Amino acid sequence: MTKQDVLSLFDVTGKTALITGATGSFGSTAAKALAAMGANVMLTGRTLSKLEACAKSVSQNGSAVLVAAGDPTVPADVARVVNATVQNFGGVDILIAAAGDNMLKPIQEQSDEQWDHMIRSNLKSTYLYCKEAGLAMVKQGRGGKIIIVGSSRGQTGYSGLSAYCSSKGAEHMLAKALACEWGPHKINVNCIAPSVFRAEMTQKYFEDAAITKMLLARLPIGRLGEPEDFIGAVLLLSSAASNWITGAVFNIDGGFTAT
Ligand SMILES: NC(=O)c1ccc[n+]([C@@H]2O[C@H](COP(=O)([O-])OP(=O)(O)OC[C@H]3O[C@@H](n4cnc5c(N)ncnc54)[C@H](OP(=O)(O)O)[C@@H]3O)[C@@H](O)[C@H]2O)c1
Repeated sequence: MTKQDVLSLFDVTGKTALITGATGSFGSTAAKALAAMGANVMLTGRTLSKLEACAKSVSQNGSAVLVAAGDPTVPADVARVVNATVQNFGGVDILIAAAGDNMLKPIQEQSDEQWDHMIRSNLKSTYLYCKEAGLAMVKQGRGGKIIIVGSSRGQTGYSGLSAYCSSKGAEHMLAKALACEWGPHKINVNCIAPSVFRAEMTQKYFEDAAITKMLLARLPIGRLGEPEDFIGAVLLLSSAASNWITGAVFNIDGGFTAT
């Protein structure tokens, strides 16, 4: 076995990656990494202007990058975006489901509408994209890779996060169930479960010394995460290197769930 044989396991040249929440911290980093490694990339999110700005930074790597705006919680939008990906790139090989929201609210202060919002933003958006892109992969008949961005909070409770924890735990189980359903089609479905990394939704934690201190007490690695911390896992789970990994939840969390 040569170095080239091993490196070729991670090759995504010419593959097509569809990325939801692409304007976000995780999604944009995954897009840049996959484009840098030669994949075609379709970026999706709710706002066209944000997507176009994001596409500029992703396409600097020379790969083909397209955008398609749509709400990931609306079935017709999801079908249109997956269809646009297939039409423009001839298929979809990798789905990264990174759209999501968070909310810290004790249950007695949380309205039913706010509960529904969290479940819709996280679980339903992920379900809809897995279904549309996964069924396109089944139809193509050349396998595929699905990466769902879950959370440490899909495995650990926290006061005020009932809706978020529930949505993330359900996303992990969605990955496991779809791994069973689509294994025979050579479609791998896995989760990446981060603790806290730098993003718009977590900026306040990075800026608040008391919260940072509390979080660091549970992070053996001794620092909060950066988006670049996920690139290795994204590449592993997007490439042939993970052909026998499915239904797994990867805790990429600085050791948070080890404590
Ligand atoms: N950051 C963390 O510490 C952390 C930890 C654990 C898990 N996660 C998970 O990682 C994933 C990516 O998040 P991120 O950290 O990259 O956050 P981010 O930078 O805030 O990006 C999230 C993206 O999701 C989309 N989005 C936000 N609210 C939405 C809603 N209500 N409905 C549909 N789409 C919505 C937004 O895209 P558009 O506005 O362009 O539509 C946004 O760019 C999420 O599922 C999150 O739960 C994050």
